[in-house]
Order: sequence, then structure tokens, then C-alpha cells
Amino acid sequence: MGINLDIEPQKFTAIVGASGSGKSTLLHCMAGLDKPTSGNVYLDDMDIYTLNDTKLSEIRRHEFGFIFQSYNLIPVINVYNNIILPVSLDSKKEDKKYIDELINKLGLESQVKKFPNELSGGQQQRVAIARALANKPSVILRMSLQEI
Ligand SMILES: Nc1ncnc2c1ncn2[C@@H]1O[C@H](COP(=O)(O)OP(=O)(O)O)[C@@H](O)[C@H]1O
Ligand SMILES: [Mg+2]
Repeated sequence: MGINLDIEPQKFTAIVGASGSGKSTLLHCMAGLDKPTSGNVYLDDMDIYTLNDTKLSEIRRHEFGFIFQSYNLIPVINVYNNIILPVSLDSKKEDKKYIDELINKLGLESQVKKFPNELSGGQQQRVAIARALANKPSVILRMSLQEI
């Protein structure tokens, strides 16, 4: 796959193409999940694959928010703890005001103590969106159904 792509700040970018053309591979490379065999991926001026694994996973947690089509919520922790998971993984305390704002914006106030399997598909999706935003990421990546 030969590709040269700039994703501009404040823009929505959709990647479309035939099955097998390399969309999933591109997304994984962009998000720090798959190291390309050649070429570089920059986040601002940082060449992300020159970082060690620990630093790269830190960047993934801080700079990228992932929304998977299958949501990938953790079944054994409640909705609130699912939402703050990216923050908890850093052993940090969540920004309670910002998280509450997210919960309100996404209409999840009455769901926070429930477990994922007690929610409808749409509610689970909103929890996944809140989780993707919990760390105030620079880039939000949403994998569509076709990317599974
Ligand atoms: N893990 C892998 N190892 C080797 N080839 C792969 C692997 N994953 C995908 N491919 C190949 O890379 C190409 C691009 O795949 P992919 O990025 O999944 O395409 P898309 O998401 O656009 O359907 C395909 O030809 C596919 O067969
Ligand atoms: Mg795909």
C-alpha cells in the first residue's frame, strides 16, 4: 500500500474503499496499533513508531479515542467505570466535571450505575463514545461495521 495522507485538525475525514484495499490497515497504522513495514506516521511532529512500547501505549491512551463498532465495553464494571477506563489506566483521577458533562450530553445520567449488558445497543454506543472522549484525545477514530 503506498499512501501519503494528511489528516487536518478540526476536520472529519472518512476513509472509503473496496474490501481488501487497506482501510483497516491504514487506520491501525494511524492509531499506533500496527507498525507499518515502511514509512512513518506523525502525530504533529512526533514520529510515533520511533517511541518504545510503553510510550506508544501512553500516546494511544492520551491522544487517540477509539470507538469500535462492537463497542468493546467491559462487562464486569459499571457504565461510569467503563467511561473513565482510559483515565483509570493511567492511575489518574478523572476530571469529574468534564466526565459529568459528557454523561449529560450523551443522556446517560440514569445509566451510570448499570452494567453494559443492561443497556440497549444505542446506549452502549453512547457509552463507547463517552469512553473515547474521556481522555480529551486529539484524534477520534471510529471503526465502522465494515472494519471489523
Ligand atoms: N494480518 C495480515 N497479514 C497479511 N495480510 C493482511 C493482514 N491483514 C490484512 N491483510 C491484507 O492486506 C490487505 C488490506 O487489508 P485490510 O486493511 O483489512 O483492507 P480493508 O479494511 O480495506 O478491507 C488485504 O489484501 C488483506 O488480505
Ligand atoms: Mg477493513
